[in-house]
Amino acid sequence: MQATRQMQATRRMQWALLGALAWAGCARSAPQAAAQTVSTQTAQTVSTQAASTQTSSAQTASAQAGGTSAAEKLNPRLLRRFKSLRGVLAAGPEPTDEQVQLGRMLYADKRLSRDRDVSCASCHVLTKYGVDNAQTSVGEKGAHGTRNSPTVYNAAGHFVQFWDGRASTVEEQAGGPIVNPLEMAMPSGDAAVAVLKTIPGYVAAFEKAFPQESDPMTFKTVGRAIGAFERKLVTPARWDRFLDGDKTALTDREVEGLRVFSDVGCLVCHTGEFLGGSMFQKVGSAVAWPNQKDQGRFTLTKNPADKMVFKVPGLRNVAMTAPYFHDGSAKTLSEAVTLMGKHQLNLDLTDDEVSAVVAWLGSLTGELPKEFLTAPVLPPDGPTTMNVAPEGHRAN
Ligand code: HEC
Ligand code: HEC
Repeated sequence: MQATRQMQATRRMQWALLGALAWAGCARSAPQAAAQTVSTQTAQTVSTQAASTQTSSAQTASAQAGGTSAAEKLNPRLLRRFKSLRGVLAAGPEPTDEQVQLGRMLYADKRLSRDRDVSCASCHVLTKYGVDNAQTSVGEKGAHGTRNSPTVYNAAGHFVQFWDGRASTVEEQAGGPIVNPLEMAMPSGDAAVAVLKTIPGYVAAFEKAFPQESDPMTFKTVGRAIGAFERKLVTPARWDRFLDGDKTALTDREVEGLRVFSDVGCLVCHTGEFLGGSMFQKVGSAVAWPNQKDQGRFTLTKNPADKMVFKVPGLRNVAMTAPYFHDGSAKTLSEAVTLMGKHQLNLDLTDDEVSAVVAWLGSLTGELPKEFLTAPVLPPDGPTTMNVAPEGHRAN
């Protein structure tokens, strides 16, 4: 029974790998898709090479020392999947403290919205693990967006931003919601900057944060400051303690969940330090996803191979960020895990397997950075702020 299950699992895993490669092979038209093709293939080639390099150099070392090195005893598959921290400090120069503090204020400031009633923090609540717990987010004047809001915690390390990857960094991403009519609804980036320019506290803060710039306050530096803040939103968890060698950091049940997660093939897509955030995949790669309304990257690239393709979300803090999926269609984590088994792996996970995986996913709930959990003090309006603000400002 156990053996049959194991064989089934291995087959699923091979199948899922084939699926990943097949997708990578046919999505070539859009530049980002092409880049991803390269990185998916490279990642797989590299990990194989890395494993063999590691073995051979370990062998050389132990041959020289005439013994068995500790590294040889480690499961290379485990190392390959989880050891690197490369994503955490990805792209972009190390932000200065002035940039982070400025970004923290902008993140919480509703004056960056047309009607002064929505900020980044409205939909990505920092005390609620960076989400709003709504199926889809509610923005300006109660307008409903069409997608579930992903968490901002740990997002900066993902290879791209948004469910469809349409921004490459958090710095680039941050401008999007400010001018999105369903979110903060500013008429333009310039309109947002015009408001900020009337607030003396911000004029000073931008000068301190961007001393090298001839014009320290632009829509671009707004994005850079918010991005700098987001790069600090990292949440180390018990899982990291476990990976760093404390084998008591997980309960037996959680280790069992990790085993199921890796045996059935979840980690083919949910991999790396964020357990996701490193590739695009089709949702419903094995069995079609029930809700076909949002076609994911296809909307962006118009490439048929991109239909229903989304960024594989990271799973850090996932126990705290219900509901799940781009369409917010799963209310509980057990439901989400069951659906993944079915639609990505064509596998009916047992209740026991699902509950073990859910237990392990709980070990990814991290520590929120305490210094950011209280609302920052925002600089007060200047004398002309209300004059330059879009009409909505004055209506309120
Ligand atoms: C009205 C709610 C709302 C507001 C306001 C809002 N967001 Fe979002 N945010 C969302 C939704 C919904 C998505 C997913 C949209 C998509 O993928 O198309 C998202 C996506 C993101 C992502 C991508 C995360 C990932 O894993 O891909 C980041 C980062 C982010 N928002 C940061 C911000 C910042 C910074 C602000 C303020 C400038 C902001 N958001 C304002 C709802 C909101
Ligand atoms: C072939 C790739 C693939 C495999 C295999 C896979 N997933 Fe996913 N996973 C995805 C994609 C893509 C999404 C985003 C889908 C969407 O929202 O439309 C996702 C979303 C999720 C989410 C929701 C996260 C959120 O914040 O909304 C959870 C939880 C999850 N996966 C867990 C698992 C588990 C557990 C397994 C194994 C049973 C698994 N996944 C297998 C690609 C995969």
